Amino acid sequence: MKLSRDELKGLMKNKMMKAGLPEDQAEIVSEILTWSDERGYHSHGAVRVEYYSERIAKGGWTINPDFKWDVTGPCSAIFDGDNASGYVAVKYAMEKAIDMAKENGVAIVGVKNIAHSGALGYYTEMAADADMTAITFCQSDPMAVPYGGTEPYYGTNPISFGAPTADGRKVIFDMATTVQAWGKILDKRARNLEIPSDWAVDEEGNPVTDPHKVNALMPIAGAKGYGLMMLVDVFSGVLLGVPFGKHVSSMYHDLSEGRGLGQLIIVMDPNRFVGLDAFKQSMSQVCDELGEMKPAPGFDKVNYPGERAVQRKEKQMATGGIDIADDVYEYLISDKVHSYSKSYDHKNRFAD
Ligand code: NAI
Repeated sequence: MKLSRDELKGLMKNKMMKAGLPEDQAEIVSEILTWSDERGYHSHGAVRVEYYSERIAKGGWTINPDFKWDVTGPCSAIFDGDNASGYVAVKYAMEKAIDMAKENGVAIVGVKNIAHSGALGYYTEMAADADMTAITFCQSDPMAVPYGGTEPYYGTNPISFGAPTADGRKVIFDMATTVQAWGKILDKRARNLEIPSDWAVDEEGNPVTDPHKVNALMPIAGAKGYGLMMLVDVFSGVLLGVPFGKHVSSMYHDLSEGRGLGQLIIVMDPNRFVGLDAFKQSMSQVCDELGEMKPAPGFDKVNYPGERAVQRKEKQMATGGIDIADDVYEYLISDKVHSYSKSYDHKNRFAD
């Protein structure tokens, strides 16, 4: 099903308002979900609305949050999100971090007590749009085995960085630290297909190809990805005093409770380093040089991070709108806030 940007965003916004989210917050969440879907990050777009609506309706997002901005030094702050929507809290915290970096050169902001914040590239793009460069990363439910282990300990702990160029292009790197997202395994289960052996392990820690035997996801690049997952959890969990490692709450465990997640934002003003113009010129040069390189067999071009997402957006816009799965569309146009027969409140993060 193809929908225009406005139609998709409006349907998502209405649904979350019907669940009880105030309009100003529903506007922010639906905008970021649309940002994801239009760039082809469908795992972090409209497909999430039914889960969020169930969580809103059950009280698992604080809908009138008491945000606290605690400046702890010239370049540091803690933002307490009061277990509100992570989208709303992190957008607000990124705005504050950009202001702090403009004033003091660098801002390191710990965002604590939030729910899921979605695709992280949205927030680093905010910084790039403000002529800043930024890194952010956050915790997510423990679903990944540590290198050499048998039990889930860390989440898919994503990392994003963003940087502006001199010509409007933006480098937006944005990835999970697991080989694949859980949603891709669900997709293979639904279609009765095997998964590649480097995606996940069974209860003994052995690689599996049967998606029904998955007990944990695998980190990217073995021990190196495991180290990156730990980096994310140390700086967005341990450092902020929120639950860490296997103690991080599950997305699907008691939807009436706040999730207490952490996220770290680092914003740097290039003017305090090489200078904004020089930085942007060099970033343009990097993108040009990569794009001009002879591609390897099987590749059309070497892309800079974020380039393909923009191409997907342009393609969707040129071919009738944003592609949404039919069942997601049926839900969005239905009267129900969420389905009671297929609740997300099942306490099993590996359920279908
Ligand atoms: P992905 O695998 O689609 O892309 C990862 C990165 O690789 C991107 O920066 C992309 O630009 C780059 N890339 C991909 N193919 C490329 C190519 N051929 N040439 C150059 N660069 C290329 O992303 P992934 O890991 O599936 O993550 C998807 C989204 O899920 C992200 O937005 C992430 O923030 C989000 N996420 C959010 C979580 C949360 O709890 N908030 C948890 C996990 C993921």
